[in-house]
Amino acid sequence: TKNIQIAIDGPAAAGKSTIAKQTAELLGYTYVDTGAMYRAITYKAIQLNIDLQDGEKLTNLLKETSIELKPSPNGQLVYLDTIEVTDEIRSPQVTASVSAVAAHANLREEMVKRQIEMGKNGNIVMDGRDIGTHVLTKAELKIFMSASVEERAKRRFLENQKRGIDTSLEELMDDIARRDKLDSEREASPLIQAEDAIFIDTTSLTIKEVSEKIMQLAKERM
Ligand code: C5P
Repeated sequence: TKNIQIAIDGPAAAGKSTIAKQTAELLGYTYVDTGAMYRAITYKAIQLNIDLQDGEKLTNLLKETSIELKPSPNGQLVYLDTIEVTDEIRSPQVTASVSAVAAHANLREEMVKRQIEMGKNGNIVMDGRDIGTHVLTKAELKIFMSASVEERAKRRFLENQKRGIDTSLEELMDDIARRDKLDSEREASPLIQAEDAIFIDTTSLTIKEVSEKIMQLAKERM
């Protein structure tokens, strides 16, 4: 078997990270949550009171910022300049601001450079919005996952409850629809399915069903 790259893209709360994490675990691959990287720089910018419309400032900030993703038994931990911010980057404030930050082309360029480096040796499952189109462009397996807005809001609601985050279902539906729109309509590498990606609608599938499907597709390519 050969070691491959797996790219998983799709809109907010489609179940990408759950599936990507599980797939990586089953294959013994590294999992990279690129959304966490955009969230981490957004969190830092908010802390420093930086104007989120100022792409140049944000890009310079990113260039002097270290963002590390470390696997742990309870999932991936996120380190920002050596400080652990795994929970902080999921706050409603960061969630509401991240798409504005991620819209800046020069900031994305720096992120993509780091992500290409992380994936260059294969053995990798990476999830995000532009992985199949701009990061792992030669990935052996590209998946584009989606589900209805209602279903995605419901899943995020349950996930938040577990994390102790209190947000109503309506707020989540609004946030997801708003982020879908921003992510799909931005000029710099918008959320779009790569031509060679396989589309999976997860609305009526269980995590296990999606996971099995992806494992099968991965094994065919190894
Ligand atoms: O995946 P998650 O919902 O945590 O991503 C947060 C935000 O980061 C997305 O709504 C999107 O604006 C941005 N993002 C991106 N490109 C990626 C990953 C995330 O623009 N590869």
